[in-house]
Amino acid sequence: MLRAIFVGLSNVEALRKFATKNKIARKTASRFIAGEELKDGIEAAKKLNLNNIEVTMDFLGENTKTEKEAWACAKEITKIMEAIKRENIWGNVSIKLTQLGLDLGEEFCEGVLRFLFDGAKSKNIFVRIDMEGSPYTQKTLNLFYKLYEEYKNIGIVIQAYLYRSYEDVEKIISLGARIRLCKGAYKEPKSIAFPKKSQVNENFIKIMKRLLDSKIYHAIATHDEKMIKATIEYAREKGITKDRFEFQMLYGIRRDMQLKLVKEGFKVRVYLPYGTHWFPYYMRRLGERPANLFFILRNIFKG
Ligand code: FDA
Repeated sequence: MLRAIFVGLSNVEALRKFATKNKIARKTASRFIAGEELKDGIEAAKKLNLNNIEVTMDFLGENTKTEKEAWACAKEITKIMEAIKRENIWGNVSIKLTQLGLDLGEEFCEGVLRFLFDGAKSKNIFVRIDMEGSPYTQKTLNLFYKLYEEYKNIGIVIQAYLYRSYEDVEKIISLGARIRLCKGAYKEPKSIAFPKKSQVNENFIKIMKRLLDSKIYHAIATHDEKMIKATIEYAREKGITKDRFEFQMLYGIRRDMQLKLVKEGFKVRVYLPYGTHWFPYYMRRLGERPANLFFILRNIFKG
């Protein structure tokens, strides 16, 4: 319910314009976003690296409306990769296909992706393709399948809330590709997604087990202690060592857990977003946890 409201609001242009200029909104968003510029992202990456936490850097943006905008995003992502190399950052990048022109046509987007993946390949950097709302699921997978034939340095995301996901996982595993498993952050209808949290969790665990069994290096992306515990227990039961998979979490969320897992010898990667187009990302984060609303209200009253 809360998620549906916030995901709905994330598409309201007037609200986006208001929020991105509003001091309090910017301040509260900074909990989840490293800053507005690449240097902010790099600085945050270095701090995380010092704590033995890897990063996946994300230049915020989605649903670009012009080719020029999509190319500008691709160039910024290239700058991230250059900075990762130059500054010896322990990390990779995450991208969204609608940021890179998917709404402008699959062919156009493919061209932009080839430019990016060539650059990533030459720098030996891994690129993770985020998964967006269901209108893009098949299109994203189609482009991934096509480009994975040529670029082995790319991976994809699977959302446990979609009914189709287990089957998609089988296909991706058969290719030998790497998956990030998450619960799913968008508003989806009952016809295609599990409506209950308990069902999503059940599917998450089912897929997690399949991923760990596959012997491919995958990522389990969650802050849910139950999911994390289930993963650790399953790995222990099956004798899967800690270097065979990684946990991933979002910047600013459950920092205590990130550090605890690292201390216990697990690999942890933090999704690290920066940029000025933070509004939809921020709204999805707010919708995930009612307590975040109190955090905002507290800031409003503090002035
Ligand atoms: P759940 O929502 O059940 O939360 C469990 C606990 O985690 C909460 O009780 C709270 O303690 C903490 N928590 C979770 N969200 C919080 C928040 N916003 N603020 C504060 N605390 C919070 N989705 C997607 O559709 N496509 C994608 O490509 C990705 N990519 C991605 C990468 C990474 C690294 C992560 C961690 C997540 C994603 N997601 C995503 C988002 C994902 O689908 C999901 O919406 C969030 O991770 C929240 O789900 P949890 O698994 O954390 O569980």
